[in-house]
Amino acid sequence: MSHLVAPSLLAADFGNLKKDIDIVNTSQADWFHLDIMDGVFVPNISFGFPVLESLRKYAQKPLDAHLMIVNPDKFLENFKDLGIFNLTVHYETCTHLHRTVQKIKSLGMKAGVSLNPHTPVYVLDEIITDVDMILIMSVNPGYGAQEFIPQSFKKIRKLKKLIIESGSRALIQVDGGVDVSNAGELVEAGVDVLVAGNTVFGSDNPSETIRALKNF
Ligand code: DX5
Ligand code: ZN
Repeated sequence: MSHLVAPSLLAADFGNLKKDIDIVNTSQADWFHLDIMDGVFVPNISFGFPVLESLRKYAQKPLDAHLMIVNPDKFLENFKDLGIFNLTVHYETCTHLHRTVQKIKSLGMKAGVSLNPHTPVYVLDEIITDVDMILIMSVNPGYGAQEFIPQSFKKIRKLKKLIIESGSRALIQVDGGVDVSNAGELVEAGVDVLVAGNTVFGSDNPSETIRALKNF
């Protein structure tokens, strides 16, 4: 499978969100990446259900939601009702991660699990064959436009090895500080889905940047 690109709307112009949604719709992007922050798990608040309700009307590609919130179990049905295709929770927020993952799947969504930069890959040993995607945070979650943490390359290679050895079919997603300078090496290390916010929407030509992230 060739890699996917999921532009993060966190870096979009919220005063003119439809314009940026249309850019993604007509670009080579594969998914919309939606960052949900609660100001508790991460030191920032992004957007919630009213915004998601509006954007789903215009988005013509699968919605990939990244929940940076405590107690995500409380809202799983809401995300299902919003048409979320892939729902990713943070390992650090789920005491009963196995239950959460099974619940997401029983609701008909793909289940993703995200790891903060300090969380080692081995914590996924017992759940790697149950999940559809692992999101490696290559910055500390909470903000866009941060610097990529180089240690993430090693972590992605470890995760790729774990996936192959376990027979898991989980995709690897990387999020934070991704741009055209590191995308090639990330895909080479095993990444299946590149998330990119600032580098896409902060560029003069977002469609062209998406094209560059898809084809190198
Ligand atoms: C950070 C978010 C990211 C963010 C990435 O907590 O999970 O999805 O939008 O932004 P960039 O690509 O600008 O680092
Ligand atoms: Zn994200």
